[in-house]
Amino acid sequence: METGTTSFCINLCLLLALCFATKWLCLKKRKTPPLPPGLMGYPIVGCFPEMMKNKPTFRWVQQLMQEMNTEIACIRLGNTHVIFVTSPQLARELLRKQDVIFASRADVLSARLASNGYLTAIFSPNCDQWKKMRRVIASGVLSPTMHQWLHNKRSKEVDHLVKYVFKQSLTNGLVNVRVAAQHYCGNMTRKLIFNKRFFGTGMEDGDPGMEEEDHLHGVFTILKYVYGFGIGDYLPWLEVFDLDGHKRIIKDALKKVRKYQDPEIDQRVEMWQQGMKKIQEDILDVFINLKDSNNNSLLSIEEIKAEITEFMLATIDNPSNAVEWALAEMINQPDILDRACKELDQVVGKDRLVDESDLPMLNYVKVCAKEAFRLHPVAAFNVPHVSIKDTTVGGYFIPKDSHVLLSRRGLGRNSRVWKDPLIYKPERHIINKDSKVLLVDHELRMLSFSTGRRGCPGIVLGSTMTIMLLARLIQGFSWTAPPNGPSNIDLVESDGGLLMAKPLVAHAVARLEPNVYLKLMQ
Ligand code: HEM
Repeated sequence: METGTTSFCINLCLLLALCFATKWLCLKKRKTPPLPPGLMGYPIVGCFPEMMKNKPTFRWVQQLMQEMNTEIACIRLGNTHVIFVTSPQLARELLRKQDVIFASRADVLSARLASNGYLTAIFSPNCDQWKKMRRVIASGVLSPTMHQWLHNKRSKEVDHLVKYVFKQSLTNGLVNVRVAAQHYCGNMTRKLIFNKRFFGTGMEDGDPGMEEEDHLHGVFTILKYVYGFGIGDYLPWLEVFDLDGHKRIIKDALKKVRKYQDPEIDQRVEMWQQGMKKIQEDILDVFINLKDSNNNSLLSIEEIKAEITEFMLATIDNPSNAVEWALAEMINQPDILDRACKELDQVVGKDRLVDESDLPMLNYVKVCAKEAFRLHPVAAFNVPHVSIKDTTVGGYFIPKDSHVLLSRRGLGRNSRVWKDPLIYKPERHIINKDSKVLLVDHELRMLSFSTGRRGCPGIVLGSTMTIMLLARLIQGFSWTAPPNGPSNIDLVESDGGLLMAKPLVAHAVARLEPNVYLKLMQ
């Protein structure tokens, strides 16, 4: 009898426990919000096989999100939840409201290679090394004082740009704007860092030589493959086989870039060590002479080398791409080009070249550049942010370690936010005629420089390089489509990326007083 009562009690307890557990699980399930809509794919590989079948990835993601009619999606690649976002409201929740949670970076093969094991600012996860390098870049190199200190070097390079284009305008008038813009950015960055335009001897007339072309090619190759949805990035256990070749391509490109940079750095360090150099003249000198609290060198040579590579990656592609697209769009809409020229003629005149001190008065030129960043970002996605813990965004569950990719293209072309999103219309950025135009949008209605803890610290330098490039091209020359061809430029993106499918080649005729160019040629 006693045994019967005991077993009855045990059974009752088990039943109650079961009820509690079921209820608790139900409550828990109800409390955990769902993942954003998307695709989970197969165990272990996730949607990787499907992604490989649908290159380029950004067009596949865009199509999936359109089909699902969503502005946030979760696609599992390998074991990683990758969250894609095209809504400015959600973007603000991620990078402003929950910035602390999303301030880390993805630990992936391509980023590890590009940063030489996370020695640098852009690629490092949220750790002391990131804090150190971000401080070095933001306060050591990009401060207002440094910006002023480097003014002369920028000034020389914008002069060189006009000279470069002028010479071509004298021959058959046809200018490859992509080449001019990319070399301008490359030359500028080399000048700021190494105080020289060339690694080699350059060409006799001051144009870039083979070494500079090779260097630029390396920089653009790294930019194409870093965070390039490689197999090694999302299926690290396959990294050793390098099935898609990304690892080899990035390594070769890094070798190419560093082949030119590293000997310059070694040589300069030696000069300082041997007392042959005593005055700081460029960013490399600044890096070498930064001290920690014990008066020891703050940066190791390896850190300097890695950071200089990153500087190259950060500085060249955005301004050159934006200006190439802006000019192409403006040639197709001559009213816009005219209005920008008129502004330059009013503010600067025709007997001198536009200078950085004119920029505060050039709001229309600025919105022309800004509109190119909106409509034609150089990269489809922002640098990935990673969540350091589970959280909820827009009512969706975002698990710890998710990669969050804000879609630069998706934000800039979101039809809920922008009227006629596919039309190049610079005026849309003018709020009123007295307001100051900035290329950055902290509201994330478009993503140029991003915002928050991981936002770009190079806004001033990047904006100056971009606006000066556009302003000098527009002020210095009258631009039209090449004669003997279609009257409009073909505004088509390349299949695999967001550059123009064909480099912009346009016809340039000098439009300033001859003296202005003569002075540059002397
Ligand atoms: C027009 C030019 C430029 C554009 C459009 C641009 C854009 C961006 C973007 C979108 C990011 C990622 C922000 C995020 O993760 O949310 C970024 C990060 C960064 N940019 Fe720029 N950038 C430009 C120029 C520069 C320049 C000249 C520098 C100077 C070195 C620079 C240094 C950096 C660094 C260090 C980061 C990483 C910040 C971090 O992770 O803490 N950028 N930039």
